[in-house]
Amino acid sequence: MNRTATSESATPKRAEPKALPDHVAIIMDGNGRWATQRGLPRIAGHKRGINSVRKITRHAKASGVKYLTLFAFSTENWLRPKEEVHGLFDLFRYYMRRECRTLAREGVRIKFIGDPSEMPEDIQSMMTEAEAMTASGEAMTLIVALNYGSRAEIVAATQRLATRVAAGEMAAGEITDTAISAELNTSGFPDPDLIIRTSGEQRLSNFLLWQAAYSEFLFVDCHWPEFDELAFDDAITLYRDRDRRFGGLRKSG
Ligand code: IPE
Ligand code: IPE
Ligand code: MG
Repeated sequence: MNRTATSESATPKRAEPKALPDHVAIIMDGNGRWATQRGLPRIAGHKRGINSVRKITRHAKASGVKYLTLFAFSTENWLRPKEEVHGLFDLFRYYMRRECRTLAREGVRIKFIGDPSEMPEDIQSMMTEAEAMTASGEAMTLIVALNYGSRAEIVAATQRLATRVAAGEMAAGEITDTAISAELNTSGFPDPDLIIRTSGEQRLSNFLLWQAAYSEFLFVDCHWPEFDELAFDDAITLYRDRDRRFGGLRKSG
């Protein structure tokens, strides 16, 4: 018997740490409830939520995450009272004025997804400027979903593809998985590895429906204003423990 070979094969394999998520997407939920529970107006919760945005952006970058997507305003959020919508836009203006330069300095590239055409014009200009000002950032891409709705995004992509087919520029058979992905707002970004939703709700609310095909989901109970670096680290630890199979079989070991 070859003892050396036996003892070698019996040596337990060193556990390989599982990969960090390249792309983390967050449904920042629970600002209103956070405020209401404290007897404050809902807008106070949104204001507090900005602190979490700052903290998590910095921390995600330091953790080695390459893409961070934050769901800031959905196509359905227009259903809220006008005062709340305007309050949210004012906070967005405040955030952009204060943060853009810092993000540029820190190597964070900002990109927006969603339909900007329905946003107030000054905000549209701020979005364009922020993308231009941070374009060379290589440390992390911060994708802000503003007036974003996944179904609207898919409908618009489908219409563009159909127009091309009707014009004879492409064949119907050329509408592939890749062709559809390329028409979405997220074209050029990897699909999210991990989607986190705060506040205990367990739904996507029209967020990244196509892109989430193989994302891992994590629903955490705390409200967005309470979501901090520690909570982010916990989420990453739980993610690294998941077994992603993509329809194949479990990796051995
Ligand atoms: C998330 O917090 C922020 C936005 C949707 C803009 P909510 O405002 O949805 O807070 P809850 O869910 O009402 O507590
Ligand atoms: C999703 O939260 C949108 C954002 C976080 C921007 P909502 O609070 O709007 O979602 P529902 O209405 O509870 O599904
Ligand atoms: Mg909500």
